[in-house]
Amino acid sequence: MIRCEGLTKYYGNHQAIADVDIHVGEGEIVGFLGPNAAGKTTTMRILTSFIPPSAGTATVAGHDVVTDSLESRRAIGYLPETSSLYRDMRVTQFLRFCAGLRGMGRQETRERMDYVLDTCGLSHRADSIIGTLSLGYRQRVGLAQALLHEPPVLILDEPTVGLDPNQIIEVRNLIKSLAKKHTVMLSTHILPEAQMTCERVIIINHGRIIAEDTPEALTAQIREAETISITLASPGDSVERQLTDMSEVVAVRPRGNGVYHIDTAIGADVRAEIAEFVVGRGWGLLELRPLEMTLEDVFQQLTTEEPAAVSAASGQEKGAE
Ligand SMILES: Nc1ncnc2c1ncn2[C@@H]1O[C@H](COP(=O)(O)OP(=O)(O)OP(=O)(O)O)[C@@H](O)[C@H]1O
Ligand SMILES: [Mg+2]
Repeated sequence: MIRCEGLTKYYGNHQAIADVDIHVGEGEIVGFLGPNAAGKTTTMRILTSFIPPSAGTATVAGHDVVTDSLESRRAIGYLPETSSLYRDMRVTQFLRFCAGLRGMGRQETRERMDYVLDTCGLSHRADSIIGTLSLGYRQRVGLAQALLHEPPVLILDEPTVGLDPNQIIEVRNLIKSLAKKHTVMLSTHILPEAQMTCERVIIINHGRIIAEDTPEALTAQIREAETISITLASPGDSVERQLTDMSEVVAVRPRGNGVYHIDTAIGADVRAEIAEFVVGRGWGLLELRPLEMTLEDVFQQLTTEEPAAVSAASGQEKGAE
């Protein structure tokens, strides 16, 4: 449903994305994960025909996003990063306006409006002026707008940004339920989001795709060490150094509040040795447990490695949109 081949985008001489290949099959829900400035929004704006690629091709539902953009855009519901909602319009007014832009008939508009208002939990705010809504509700209006014309493909740029924890759960569930009928690509830098919502994750960093798999396979693939988490009541200044000096220990990462993550060689179970060592130093062992690797660890590991030389001017900071 979504297919990019060698997608590359320069802003001036700054290369924002390089050689991006993405395939998303029908009905898939894929997370597009990357740190700030990785190129997520850029890729999505190309897919939605807001900006042209500098090189490479992209098709959505079989339609080229450059040469056949009218048709490809018809197939897409897009939630942009910064929602360009009309703040002085009422919710229903705005949705009717969007329906008009998309050439939807009266009957269809009425039916779909009821559906999206209900689906996005907006029925009770249907007559509110958008500018008076909370951020979370404005985000829902953005989603409602994306769903309005019943597009087969949803491209959602950070759909849960700015929502409170309850709303995040609601929107996640909403997206999951949508994934049954739609193909969904959502960007996020929130890892649990990708892990909980998506069947497959594509990780982008410095404009290049660096990994692509199920969340489970990614964590398994990257596992280079066993990690043990310990919590100490009274850690001394030299805990990190003394632990690192242990022959079985590969690395020690202090996590604050007396928590240390200790990487040991794969296959070695040195919990007993570590417990004995820590107790012997009188650091007050409160907890010791093996740590499952999370997608967060994978992400951190992949995105803090030496970046490929994508761009001479590659800044970490977020550029003007
Ligand atoms: N309109 C623009 N003009 C110039 N440079 C831009 C423009 N838009 C983005 N960039 C640059 O392109 C790179 C990728 O930006 P992009 O917005 O795609 O990242 P992102 O992954 O969406 O980041 P975030 O998580 O912060 O939203 C960044 O280095 C950014 O500064
Ligand atoms: Mg972005």
